[in-house]
Amino acid sequence: MAVTQPEARQVEPQSATVRNPYSVLPNWLYPTFVVVALSLFALYAAWVVLFFKDGRFGPYLSPFNSPEFRVTVAGFAIPTGIWIFWVPLVFRATCYYYRKAIFRSYLWHPRSCAVQEPSRGMYRGETRFFVFNNLHRFAFYIVALQVGVLWYDAIASFIWNSGFHLGLGNVLMLVNVVCLSGYTFGCHAFRHLAGGGLDCFSCHRARYRLWKGVTVLNVRHDRWAWISMFTVWGVDLYIRLLQLGALPHGAWN
Ligand code: FES
Repeated sequence: MAVTQPEARQVEPQSATVRNPYSVLPNWLYPTFVVVALSLFALYAAWVVLFFKDGRFGPYLSPFNSPEFRVTVAGFAIPTGIWIFWVPLVFRATCYYYRKAIFRSYLWHPRSCAVQEPSRGMYRGETRFFVFNNLHRFAFYIVALQVGVLWYDAIASFIWNSGFHLGLGNVLMLVNVVCLSGYTFGCHAFRHLAGGGLDCFSCHRARYRLWKGVTVLNVRHDRWAWISMFTVWGVDLYIRLLQLGALPHGAWN
């Protein structure tokens, strides 16, 4: 049936309100979540790195303290976390996803392109202070090695006192390293390394397959970023509570 002009006018929207097409949630929710979650994690990490000399409880080892470097200066044992924490810190702070999250929360940039930017001078891209974002690919190389060490820790934790050991800590360490691998190997810099510079995929089948695998992780990079941050937090908290005697250590061995 043909729609006449007056009928068509009736179905036009009555309101000119611009809605965020990506989410039905209120616009303040995402930046607030980012600021609260990242700030609490940063405070927790500072407490752990500065006030705990090591992160071991039996077969369990915290990701904040792996690999275990023991350095003593003038009789004072330097907390192992001091040597470790800066690598994931640089990696996450320069991650393409976290940059977006930080710009849209701490720096209060709008979430959507249709919203007017606040007036604050010329945009200068990744120059001046933000030139440090270019460290990301170098941080990736070190973090990839660190993830390898965490895999070793997770598998080695099943052996304790020359026997098999299975406890909640083993499961948490394993889940954590799987999530960290999902985050690390879905990195945009790694995706570029795998296949970003190739003009001919069919000439480099192995790199093409690697690039496709990285892409599978990369499309959910934001979720891997958050989940892996919370698994690091969770496994470390569990080990600290064991160290402090606040939780019993149950294991099957
Ligand atoms: Fe996020 Fe590299 S882009 S870890």
